[in-house]
Formats: sequence, structure tokens, C-alpha cells
Amino acid sequence: MGVKLTDTQVTLTHPQDESTSVTILLYGATVTSWKVKGQERLWLSEQAKLDGSKAVRGGIPLVFPVFGKSTDHETSALPQHGFARTSTWEVLGQTSEDPLTVQLGLGPEQLSVEARQQWGRDFTLLYTVSLTGPESLTTKLEVENTDKAPFEFNVLFHTYFRIPDVSKVAVQGLTGKRVADKVLKSNYVEQTTDGVRIDGEVDRVYATESSDPVDITSDGTPIVSITGRKNTEDVVVWNPWTDKANGLADFYPKDGFKQMICVELGAVSKFHTVAPGDKWAAEQTLNAK
Ligand code: BG6
Repeated sequence: MGVKLTDTQVTLTHPQDESTSVTILLYGATVTSWKVKGQERLWLSEQAKLDGSKAVRGGIPLVFPVFGKSTDHETSALPQHGFARTSTWEVLGQTSEDPLTVQLGLGPEQLSVEARQQWGRDFTLLYTVSLTGPESLTTKLEVENTDKAPFEFNVLFHTYFRIPDVSKVAVQGLTGKRVADKVLKSNYVEQTTDGVRIDGEVDRVYATESSDPVDITSDGTPIVSITGRKNTEDVVVWNPWTDKANGLADFYPKDGFKQMICVELGAVSKFHTVAPGDKWAAEQTLNAK
């Protein structure tokens, strides 16, 4: 019950329901497991590296300060998705009992020499993970500028949801939204009226309002609802399908794409700016149905 800390991870168990828990690996502050009533709700590759040698394939990796890879920007030297998911965070402690909450922090002194050379800004990241209910998990990432000049960044909760069967699943709330489609290499407005379905490789960024509800349904029944969105106007929908999954060494089983869908909320379509001394925060609540 409560909060259990080891050298490598921290686990929160819901005080009123011990079959609900969340585990956060200190490497990347990656949520690697979220169990609701004993049922795992996140997809984690069976060959995900959990030893700090590579970003975790699954769970909720954190993207900061750049989504994808940038060109002509001060983050351009950084690898895809930045360094937050490949740095070891510090557990700052339990900040609330009800709801059960822990906070992790990352600052320049915890970055690798290489990452520090690639992006030399002074910053503090605070990651707050909360079991807001027996069926809900809230994640909040706060970016504080401790530098002398403004800096620009992207943020994303790269959530891999575990789903029963990708052929039955749809993402609701995206109809009529503008899409940047990285597979088709085109921009268009989403026309589907019964949800976004996956029947091949999908890699899209939808422009939404943070107030729009986003739900994942299976056979028309909601299985996850994402609420409490703050500064998360972009919704990335990603499924690697066959060829891409085959090309990812740490993606296993190779047909695991049938049991996962990434629905990633954040701020990635443009860089946001935070002034010296200021803070900016993105937040989401995942509700299991
Ligand atoms: C998604 C991107 O967010 O992450 C995809 O939209 C990318 O383009 C995917 O392939 C996985 O990225 P990575 O770096 O974890 O293999």
C-alpha cells in the first residue's frame, strides 16, 4: 500500500484499492505500468530496455524538449524526442496522500554530458504522477525556465495504451480536426465520423482544443477517456503496424501492434516559449472504463 521506492522505480498503490497501482521507472520518469483493478492498461514491449540503455518502448515515455527531430532550431543536435525519456530523474517525494501523488524532478545536473552539450539551457522539469482515483491516473509535466533567456520546447505524454484488439478500436473526438499525416505526407481535415481507426501504419498529429474530449472505444464502447487536458492541444495517434514494428529492435512481440495504440497528448506542432523565471505545465488524466 502507499508509496514503494526502490533504486530504479517508484510504485504507488491506491490506498482504498490495492489492485490499482502505477509504477514509474526513474529512467525517463517513464510510467511502465498502470493497473486498474488488477488489469494492466498500458502496453510495454516484452523487449523494452528497462536498464537505462535506451528509451523505454511502451508505457508513458516523456518527450522534452523536442518532438521528433528538429532542423534549424537550438534543439536540432538532440536525438528524436529529446532527453527527458533517456535521463535518470530524481524522486522528490510524496506530495499528497489523497490523491496519492509523487513528484520527480530533472535538471541540467542530471543530464549526460552529451545531452548537456546538445542543449545547454538551465531548466527544471517537475513531473507529478497521481492516482486520482481507483480508475484514473493524472500526469502533469511542469517546465520551469531557470535560464537567463527564454527558451522554446515541445512536450508530449507518449502514452502506449494496451487494447484488446486494434481492429475493433477507434479514437473519438478527432472528427473535423486538422491532421498532419506523416505516413501520407499530407495535411487534411479528418473526415471519419465513427472515430479514427487503425488498419495500417498510422502516424498523425491532430490539432485539437485542450477542452475537446478524447476517448478510445472498442466495438463502440469507451475503454479509456482522456480528460483534464491542459496545454495538450496536439493529439498524436501512432501505430507502427507490421513493417515499422519489424524494424524496431525493441518492439516485441512483433505482432504486438495489434494490442497497442499510442494516443499521445502534448504540445508539439509548434514550439512553446517560456520566459526566464516562468513556468508552463501540461496535464492529462487517463480514465479507465
Ligand atoms: C511517435 C511519432 O510519437 O513516436 C512517430 O509520431 C515515431 O513518428 C514514434 O515513430 C516512436 O518513436 P521512437 O523514437 O520511440 O521510436
